[in-house]
Amino acid sequence: MKIKGSTNIVGLIGHPVEHSFSPPMHNAAFDKLNMDYAYVAFDVDSNNLKSAIDGAKSLNIKGFNVTIPHKIGIMQFLDEIDEVASLIGAVNTIDFKNLKGYNTDGIGAVRAIEEVTNIKNKNVVVAGAGGASRAISFYLARYGADTITLLNRNVDRAMNLAEDILDSGLITEIKSDSISEINSYLSDADILVDTTPRGMHPHTDDEPIARAENMQEDLVVFDAVYNPNETVLIKEAIKAGAKPVYGIKMLLYQGAESFKIWTGRKAPIDVMEKALGETLNLE
Ligand SMILES: NC(=O)c1ccc[n+]([C@@H]2O[C@H](COP(=O)([O-])OP(=O)(O)OC[C@H]3O[C@@H](n4cnc5c(N)ncnc54)[C@H](OP(=O)(O)O)[C@@H]3O)[C@@H](O)[C@H]2O)c1
Repeated sequence: MKIKGSTNIVGLIGHPVEHSFSPPMHNAAFDKLNMDYAYVAFDVDSNNLKSAIDGAKSLNIKGFNVTIPHKIGIMQFLDEIDEVASLIGAVNTIDFKNLKGYNTDGIGAVRAIEEVTNIKNKNVVVAGAGGASRAISFYLARYGADTITLLNRNVDRAMNLAEDILDSGLITEIKSDSISEINSYLSDADILVDTTPRGMHPHTDDEPIARAENMQEDLVVFDAVYNPNETVLIKEAIKAGAKPVYGIKMLLYQGAESFKIWTGRKAPIDVMEKALGETLNLE
């Protein structure tokens, strides 16, 4: 990559950002398509969000990804919020053409799952009710899931999310319960989505949310955790003969959607996936 006087800048704002996988993924895509763009990460304190947006506008930055802890706080500084991002209540992508916020996390997950099975008319169990669960669950509803069951340690949080999704009118059947009840829901489930951080590096020996003996072979098991690639839950899914969907695919497809929003071009998925694999040492 050659940085020139004409180079367009896109990037990531969050705190911390130094371990992000997004710069190698997007820069590999720009290289492949010979695009005069560069992607950089900016560590931004929560007190400086407004000045970061004002500064980015002044500097003619083209787009941002937004990560923890700014996905909600940034929204007040944008001119427009995409409809689904507004329902989710969080933004992970900003297009500076119109200072509009989007959320590509949920679509990243559903694209990853739809590589293995259609979501339409499926019975989906979602573990966790935090930011990732919100983004993914709204998209599961949008993609026509028949029933969503939200399971969380804090059941009130799952109930609140269930109410928000019902209010959106995207789905008519949504349940909530304690995550300790998960096994009683798995026999009827087509898809299990884990949005809890269990098994995430360095806690790779955590107890998984479900064991192989409670999974049937037809179950599709998606784990949002992508480091390590093969989490404790994915190992259990493989042991059960079920169908694993890796968290890295969500990262890949959310990035591909952001790339399209900023540049108007289709993202080179293979190149981005290879760059992610190299960053995760999967080669
Ligand atoms: N692949 C991707 O592109 C991608 C994108 C975004 C996030 N993620 C991953 O998704 C995970 C969650 O992120 P988030 O932003 O949703 O976090 P969050 O907003 O903090 O929510 C975490 C959720 O997990 C639950 N939880 C936390 N520790 C748990 C445990 N030990 N056992 C059971 N449940 C537990 C929490 O339950 P309570 O409400 O009861 O506390 C909460 O529902 C992280 O591992 C993150 O890396 C991946």
